Formats: sequence, C-alpha cells, structure tokens
Amino acid sequence: MVDASALLPPDDLIALENRHETGLYPKQPIVLVRGEGARLWDAAGRSYIDCVGGHGVANVGHAHPAVVQAITEQAQRLVICPNGFYNEQRARLLGELTRIAPPGLTRAYLCNSGTESVEAAFKFARLSTGRTKIIAAMRGFHGRTMGALSATWRKEYRQPFEPLVPGFEFVPYNQLERAAQAVDAETAAVILEVVQGEGGVIPGDGDYLRGVQALCRERGALFIVDEVQTGFGRTGKMFASFHHGLQPDLMCVAKGIAGGLPMGATLIGERVGSLPSKSHGSTFGGNPLVCAAALATIRCLEAERLPERAAELGQRMLERMLEINSPQIRQVRGLGLMVGIELKDKAAPYLAALAERGVLALSAGATVLRFLPPLVISQEDVDTVVERVGEVLLAGAQ
Ligand SMILES: Cc1ncc(COP(=O)(O)O)c(C=O)c1O
Repeated sequence: MVDASALLPPDDLIALENRHETGLYPKQPIVLVRGEGARLWDAAGRSYIDCVGGHGVANVGHAHPAVVQAITEQAQRLVICPNGFYNEQRARLLGELTRIAPPGLTRAYLCNSGTESVEAAFKFARLSTGRTKIIAAMRGFHGRTMGALSATWRKEYRQPFEPLVPGFEFVPYNQLERAAQAVDAETAAVILEVVQGEGGVIPGDGDYLRGVQALCRERGALFIVDEVQTGFGRTGKMFASFHHGLQPDLMCVAKGIAGGLPMGATLIGERVGSLPSKSHGSTFGGNPLVCAAALATIRCLEAERLPERAAELGQRMLERMLEINSPQIRQVRGLGLMVGIELKDKAAPYLAALAERGVLALSAGATVLRFLPPLVISQEDVDTVVERVGEVLLAGAQ
C-alpha cells in the first residue's frame, strides 16, 4: 500500500510537474498513485477502471504478483549485464520470445521501446537487402525517433522535424493494388500494423496483409509487421499476425512485453540473413531485470489464457459498444481488447467526462475514443465501461 503521508498534496505535485515538464503531453488533472489488475487509484483514494492500460502496456494488469516477484528477485541479484556477456534471464527470454512468435522468427534483438524496435528493423532491412526504400501505410504510427518517424503518417508529428530520413514512401492502408505499384527492385521493406492503433483503431484486411507479404517475397523486399500495440494477447491472439497466418520477416514488439517495464524487441526471420557484428546495439537492451519481468509476463499470459480472455471480452465490449444508440458515433471497430469509437466530434471532452465517471480511456487521433484495458479486466468492468460510454455520449448529444 502507498503511504499517503509521504505524498505531496495533489495540487502541489501537479504544479511541480507542470513547472518542470516539457509541456509535450496533454494531461488529465488526475494523480495516479496505485494500480491493481485493471483498476487504478488516485491520490484522493478514488478508483478508476483503466482502459488506458499505460497506453496498451499493462496487459497482465497492474502489480501482477508474479511480475512483482520476478522484478524483486532479479533486482536483488543482477540488474545490468552487457550484451558482451551471457545471462540466464536473457537466454531464457530469447528462447521464449522465439517460441511464441509466428513461425520462422528464430532470432531477436532486444531494446527498450517500440520506436527502437522499429529503428532496428529498418537498419536490419537495409543491411540485409542492400536496398534503401521503405514503404509504410497512410495513418500508420511507428514511433517518434527519426527513422520510425519517417514511417509515421501524421503531419503534426513529422513536419516540424523535416528533413527526415530519405527513402520513405506512403501508400493507402488496405489497398493491395497501391502496394503492388509501390514495391519495386529498390524496396528494402514494407512496414505495416495488423490493426492501426494511433491511426484510429483500423483493422487490417487479411487478404491485404497476406497480399503485401506475398509481394515482398516475390520482389525481394522484407515484410515488417509492427506489433508494438497489437502484441502479447491484446487482439485475442498472442500476436495479431496469427489472425491472418502472417509470417513476417521482421516483427517489432514492445508495450505489453515486460509487465510495464520499458522493453522492445525486433524478431528476425531467415530471409534477413546474418547481421554484421557491431552493426547495431543498445546499452540497456536485454538487461536481466526486464528479461525477468518479460519471462514472468509471458508465463502469466499463457497460464491465465489472457489472449483468449481478450478475444471473449473484446467481442463483448465491441458488440455492446455497437448497441449504443448515439448520433455522435460514426463507427465502432476493433479486434480483441483494442476497441475504438470514431465520433463526429472531438474525443477529448468525452474522455474527461468518462474520467469523472470513473473510467480512464485514451484517444486515437482527434476523434476516436480508444479502449486498451488490461486483459485481466472483469466482465463486470467491461459492462460498466460500456454503460459509462453510453451515458457520456448521450449527455454530449443533449
Ligand atoms: C504500432 C506502434 N509502433 C511503435 C510505437 C512506438 O512505441 P514507443 O512509444 O514505445 O516508442 C507505438 C506507440 O504507440 C505503436 O503503437
């Protein structure tokens, strides 16, 4: 439990954070102090149903006892072990990651975030093919460092930092013929999300995704699947690639991988070939602390059948959201516990109204409400979330 007497008063804490932070993040005026499962508590002791999930990170729930135990034990033993030495946690995690991944991904590069996993995939693709062109999808999101940003669609994210990395091209998502026109003898790789997350929770079409994969195979390019947001059970399978039988050459993962600790990984298939020694690397990548947390996370996902749970509860959430009869709604869509409601209005006021009613959710672009709860969320909490969403949409329409 948190010792409330040790905390700054919430108003002072907010003022301190506002004074010294960058101002990059729009914030809700809520001070979070504790989490358990799919619940969060603020400084006043108020409880919330968490559909932010640390932006799709807390798949096994907050403070999962098995993850807490793994972190505690490993912190007492060894936190850092450079990649020039061997370590049991890392070795075991590499074995587990490649075991649960789509077939053919037999190696993994370990890093610290989603954007780093994407950077690595681009570097490996260029190294392996000797080509430079990377094709990405309109409305896609792959991160904010210069390489990953070059593959990210939204103008507001990209424009202030141009010129970005040369060689990137965008094609419309879910339109195979446009991809077929773009992939050529200069193309190192195509990168796609299976469900576009930040772009507005837009599920990819199976024929399209398999079609792009086939194009890449035919034309000597690599197929990169970005599963940073869709991985580790989120969409109702361990990886969303399994919904469509995809076998990526490179797969980027992060977010839910290590029970909340910062970690990313780039999984690598045979078509990538061998990578020259010292051509890439990371000081913190694959440290024993995050590897121990990731091992515990994977064990929980499997033992508690959380991907299956996400499939069932996600279906329930989607169906019930579809029943909400509100003129504010343009479309409801999603896969597993990754659900979006596209509104005719801006999402921000509805998010604030939901928070007042004890539900935390996030946006995807300006007009989409996005729900990424921990996969351990109870059915009752799913139903309460839908009820609250119905209430705020009704109130907004009046
Ligand atoms: C699909 C996808 N790729 C990459 C990223 C970047 O991950 P990170 O914020 O860990 O750098 C995100 C983050 O939201 C994402 O959703």
